[in-house]
Amino acid sequence: MSTWANLGLQDSASPLMEQLIFFHDHALLILVMITVLVGYLMFMLFFNNYVNRFLLHGQLIEMIWTILPAIILLFIAFPSLRLLYLLDEINEPSVTLKSIGHQWYWSYEYSDFNNIEFDSYMIPTNELPTDGFRLLDVDNRIVLPMNSQIRILVTAADVIHSWTIPALGVKVDGTPGRLNQTNFFMNRPGLFYGQCSEICGANHSFMPIVIESVPTNYFIKWISNN
Ligand code: CUA
Repeated sequence: MSTWANLGLQDSASPLMEQLIFFHDHALLILVMITVLVGYLMFMLFFNNYVNRFLLHGQLIEMIWTILPAIILLFIAFPSLRLLYLLDEINEPSVTLKSIGHQWYWSYEYSDFNNIEFDSYMIPTNELPTDGFRLLDVDNRIVLPMNSQIRILVTAADVIHSWTIPALGVKVDGTPGRLNQTNFFMNRPGLFYGQCSEICGANHSFMPIVIESVPTNYFIKWISNN
């Protein structure tokens, strides 16, 4: 989760988020190089006294400064497209979780396992334990096995919500009357926090998501006790 002064991306907990971070850094590097180059050229123009009174056209330089940026853009476009298709790839998920957005809480259904279902509300500040995270902890966490492919089905019961977990690189809108699908693979155990990220009303900020990533045998134990 994000803590104080963490202004960048969170540490990844899934291979896809790792790829997203690589792509972000790659795009940022290109952006910095362009900004420095253009900034330097613009700054240097102030100190340039040369004027060409007969300059009317310059086909060659125009060809260069049209094609060169186009080529640079390809270096962003192709990795971006690769990621886009990678994010949509689903290979034989072992668990499917359905999350339904409500004003203002999430409810979950494990339809693979005897249709276990429960609501997940944020713990209000006045009821928060001393080691709890304000506006982030919930009363009923999602428990899911690590090191396995997980499919998420997202929908909503009233208005549009968005099921978002930054550490896993997951962000899917829950829309009434639709069923959206995504997937992830958690490569470590831990608690992964997320929030609704579609402005859904007065308590939009107060419907967080918590995933408890556990080893498979713990998950089986948890699911059979429910
Ligand atoms: Cu639900 Cu914002």
